[in-house]
Amino acid sequence: MGSRFLEQLPTPAALIDRTRLLKNLRAMQQRAAQEGVALRPHVKTHKSPDLARLQQEVGAVGITVATVDEAEAFVAAGFTEVRLAYPTVGADRYERLLPLMERARLSFCLDTPEAIREASAFFAERGRQARVLLEVDTGFGRTGVRWDDARHLVACARLIQESPGLRLIGLLTHAGQAYHGPQSGESPIDALRRVAAEERDRLLAAAVVLHQAGLATPGQLELSVGSTPTAHYFTNRTEQGFRITEMRPGNYVFHDAMQVALGSCTLDDCALTVLARVVSRKPDGRGGWWVFLDAGKKALSTDQGYGTQGYGLPLYRPASRTPLPHARIARLSEEHGWMHVRGGTTLQIGDRVQIVPNHACLVAPLLRRFYVVEGDEVVAEWAVAEASSVARSVASTC
Ligand SMILES: Cc1ncc(COP(=O)(O)O)c(C=O)c1O
Repeated sequence: MGSRFLEQLPTPAALIDRTRLLKNLRAMQQRAAQEGVALRPHVKTHKSPDLARLQQEVGAVGITVATVDEAEAFVAAGFTEVRLAYPTVGADRYERLLPLMERARLSFCLDTPEAIREASAFFAERGRQARVLLEVDTGFGRTGVRWDDARHLVACARLIQESPGLRLIGLLTHAGQAYHGPQSGESPIDALRRVAAEERDRLLAAAVVLHQAGLATPGQLELSVGSTPTAHYFTNRTEQGFRITEMRPGNYVFHDAMQVALGSCTLDDCALTVLARVVSRKPDGRGGWWVFLDAGKKALSTDQGYGTQGYGLPLYRPASRTPLPHARIARLSEEHGWMHVRGGTTLQIGDRVQIVPNHACLVAPLLRRFYVVEGDEVVAEWAVAEASSVARSVASTC
């Protein structure tokens, strides 16, 4: 294959800046090593076996996934250490996990007595024992048993331990509240430090509760934390013999405009951009311009978060991640990005613009292919992994 350059790519396209990607991978690996935890990155961010292989080469112990589709795709691609960080409910899902358990060391999460009973009955009937982590809610309020609900923590852990089809291997949490931004009077960095400490201390507290109930032994229970903002500010510590054993950030490979707004990284750390083309333009009647890009909701997603401006950050000089002055992606249609530019614009029809997305994790499922670039040159193409043929054939018969 001859060299390919940015101006030859179709648009919209997802670009990964190789230098920034490698820097992000190494920096997070170093953070994990410094704090004495294993790094098990969440691959939902990129869904790319090529990228996950790089993460393992740099030192990741395995991968985290969010869906059975992802588990199937990555096991099919040869990954053998797979954690499904999601409350995994339903015989249809367990049926699909069974063959994966033959080929990979697989674990998944549970957080209710009903699901624990159903999972145990399914695996015990087939003479299997599934490796399970009890999910703990350390303040996000989503799934998981609340860290301060000792009665339910003990009840669920005991039920798993007494279940013939399950083996309790650890506790797992995700501090999604890190995405809420600072409380009043707090700096963004102090907010990230606070939530990182909360995530760690509340998970350690849950482990101690289980220890006091005779259900957990320090050194034998995996304690898994993880989000990108908290991973940047995570420090480990010991509580009655327990320490955090792993972290599972996902977004850090790319970062995005949300992470920049949260103070979790700088714009220069953002490795992923969406390449779009100017397809139309018109004056706004007030001295400014509407510049229409061929990247809309189906390329950038409509996600907005704490501190984001519009629907992504358009760049003037992608090499230095310099923002396009006076420009804001103010609206999105499905296939149109409505970029408003105050004052004049030099952008012409057909010009290409790179945009740092608000939420990088939504770009992979939307665009399904990454172009890895060094400067203006495309050095590799990575496809997003598809669910296995088994999953697709089941879906197509429904
Ligand atoms: C359970 C779980 N673990 C880990 C992560 C990774 O967090 P981040 O996207 O902040 O890197 C997520 C993200 O949604 C998650 O839901």
